[in-house]
Amino acid sequence: MIVTKSYEDSCQRAAELIEAAVLANPQAKLGLATGGTPLPIYRRLIEDCKAGKISFAKVRTVNLDEYCGLNGSNTQSYRWFMDHNLFNEIDIDKTNTYVPSGLGDLAANCREVDKKVRENGVPELQLLGIGNNGHIGFNEAADLLHTETHIEQLTESTIAANARFFDKSEDVPTQAITMGLSSILAAKSIVLVATGAAKAAAIRGLLCNDEVTTQNPSTFLKLHPNATVIIDAALATAAGYEN
Ligand code: F6R
Repeated sequence: MIVTKSYEDSCQRAAELIEAAVLANPQAKLGLATGGTPLPIYRRLIEDCKAGKISFAKVRTVNLDEYCGLNGSNTQSYRWFMDHNLFNEIDIDKTNTYVPSGLGDLAANCREVDKKVRENGVPELQLLGIGNNGHIGFNEAADLLHTETHIEQLTESTIAANARFFDKSEDVPTQAITMGLSSILAAKSIVLVATGAAKAAAIRGLLCNDEVTTQNPSTFLKLHPNATVIIDAALATAAGYEN
């Protein structure tokens, strides 16, 4: 648990943890996330790579999720997001990057994600954001959660939150392929970064008690032996977290 002065500092800490994993094992597998939260983290990785401080030449990556129905050349797809916000700007071999596919045979795609997570070793580090309702990946708050990669129906609140990236809210896909809880928890270490008052209730559930509930999927991180949550002081106060 790390409380920083600012979101900027949180992103710096997360970038340092990612780089430490890569320095310790240049062939590390990294689990990556999309969304607004990791953008400054990726910018730091790009800066450090361009400055010659870190190389991703042998790194492998696997992403958490992808919208159903969008192909990788669609600017709203998570493949496009990863290419343009990270992969195209660092020295990674793109053939070693994997973003789930939300097109074609979805059941086969789900099996492929779980294989990618586990083949030749599980991720050294899985980076996560968190949804306003506590979702991680696209595992939405519900009575039942899934352990393996599956197709998830996005909730109204997630569609509304993600509409900011689309021209019209009707354009937001309503389904996504996402790693399940055990695929996420398989990583050797987990780093979750959160900022903003909208995340306060989810963060309270994650940090302020010892309960695990499917109604806040992030609470399952309490079962992981090496999960680090990084929030800024403003979010800690909003969540009622006492350091
Ligand atoms: C993205 C993902 C989601 C986001 C979450 C927060 O790959 O899996 O769980 O991390 O929706 O999104 P932002 O960072 O945009 O608030």
